[in-house]
Amino acid sequence: MKKKVLITGGAGFIGSHTYINLVSAGYTAVILDNLSNSNPCILDRLESITNTKPELIIGNINDAALLEETFSKHNFSAVIHFAGLKAVGESVEKPLDYYNNNISGTLCLLSAMQKAKVKTLIFSSSATVYGNAESSPLKENHPRSATSPYGRSKLIVENILEDLSFSDPTWNIACLRYFNPVGAHPSGLIGEDPKGTPNNLMPYIAQVAVGRRSSLSVFGGDYNTPDGTCRRDYIHVVDLAEGHVAALNYYNSNSGLITVNLGTGSGVSVLQVIEKFEEASGVKINYSITSRRSGDVAECWADPTLAKQRLGWVARRSIEDMCKDTWNWQSKNPTGLSDQQ
Ligand code: NAD
Ligand code: UFG
Repeated sequence: MKKKVLITGGAGFIGSHTYINLVSAGYTAVILDNLSNSNPCILDRLESITNTKPELIIGNINDAALLEETFSKHNFSAVIHFAGLKAVGESVEKPLDYYNNNISGTLCLLSAMQKAKVKTLIFSSSATVYGNAESSPLKENHPRSATSPYGRSKLIVENILEDLSFSDPTWNIACLRYFNPVGAHPSGLIGEDPKGTPNNLMPYIAQVAVGRRSSLSVFGGDYNTPDGTCRRDYIHVVDLAEGHVAALNYYNSNSGLITVNLGTGSGVSVLQVIEKFEEASGVKINYSITSRRSGDVAECWADPTLAKQRLGWVARRSIEDMCKDTWNWQSKNPTGLSDQQ
């Protein structure tokens, strides 16, 4: 019988891509999402790609009664927990929303899992837990700190999961620390679809390229880096999706808690991303170099060795693939999924 997985936040960017890889790896999956940052028409898109329409439960991970009902109805072997809020700037303005969704929501989910005796969890953590790291590459044992309520929410959940695993070693918990997820499924049917003004570089560039925004601000050109702009570890969302399947499969023959970076291991600058995007799209990106964005570190990339050793996973897709697939998605869906339904 196929193993069944609950995907919280599965209608979102990374969750929807992971659904595809789960299905092709032989899992069945149910999505629980409150659609606060996603669109239900994603289901039809996922059906076109996988030939199976995901079951969507519209609801909040903070709803204990709904979770109890969901776990009693389905025989889940694991949960992949993406649901949460993720905008760093917004978290500074609305910390309680972030702590409610990301911390209380996770606690509610863990309690329901414990009650239902479902003790395998893949958790979306972030490179943000490395705080203002001074040098890269970053290994998992680098000291952790928080620079925003969002970052603190990830750090606190990591701590909670460590305490839980210590108290009951029969839990299997993978904390996956993503670096900078970008790109889209090569079909162009799904991709990153931020509501409002994008906070992140790649969707901003894509919206300039498609004509939705006039110009990109490059935040700072005077960093101590080869071209003066910040370097990040951009990782293709399909590589990331593969990482989640690898983490689930890891628990076929292992147990306990693991924390691993999911990144490529190399840093790419803002100007390099612009150049690669121009090559992939054939569109000139209008940009200007402005002042630094508060809180940005000059360089941040992963040491992905542990993910290779423990999960047998490596990122295979290049920055060219990331730009090509982002452009394929954006040019086929100039306004994202907002005008669908
Ligand atoms: P996303 O916003 O596209 O997806 C998150 C989904 O969760 C959305 O569909 C949203 O509607 C849903 N959701 C939010 N709060 C919920 C709640 N309380 N109950 C039920 N559903 C809820 O974000 P994403 O980029 O796919 O990120 C997924 C996870 O990965 C998040 O936890 C995020 O913090 C983490 N992460 C993302 C990045 C990134 O740059 N995208 C980097 C590191 C970590
Ligand atoms: N940038 C611009 N212009 C923009 C947007 C971004 O120049 O309009 C620059 C940023 O200054 C940075 C780089 O592009 O140098 C990447 O910025 P992103 O916002 O795309 O990504 P970050 O590395 O800042 O943020 C990511 C995740 C967060 C996470 C953080 C720390 O999106 O969730 O890494 O790990 F908290």
